Amino acid sequence: MRLSLLLSLAFCSALLAQEVDGKKVFETHCWGCHHQTAVAFGPPFSEIADKRTKDEIKAYVISPESMYKAFGYKRTVMTQFDLSDNELDLISDYILTYKGKK
Ligand code: HEC
Repeated sequence: MRLSLLLSLAFCSALLAQEVDGKKVFETHCWGCHHQTAVAFGPPFSEIADKRTKDEIKAYVISPESMYKAFGYKRTVMTQFDLSDNELDLISDYILTYKGKK
């Protein structure tokens, strides 16, 4: 009983920490063009999370240039980033936390 409580606390704080780090990647690299739930220069994260998988999000961030056609865009104006695997993981998870949030 006490152990499961401890485990779920540890799990929650791991989730929280991850969200905070993903948020940092967002604020550093994406914030000028994307907003979590509102349309900015680019589509909102809530919309992206509703239609893409984690792998699709990662692939787009790695190379918008080679993905934009498959995603239905006529051209891409998004910056090409050089993020680490960890940053990519964090930002994709962060975007997916907005699934279903309008
Ligand atoms: C210079 C502005 C700009 C920046 C900076 C930017 N984006 Fe974008 N993003 C766009 C625009 C505009 C689109 C729409 C298609 C295009 O132009 O590539 C887009 C599209 C996307 C898509 C695909 C949307 C779909 O249809 O599913 C994803 C995923 C994405 N951005 C993630 C990110 C992430 C993550 C970052 C930060 C690491 C980021 N973007 C930074 C402008 C930007």
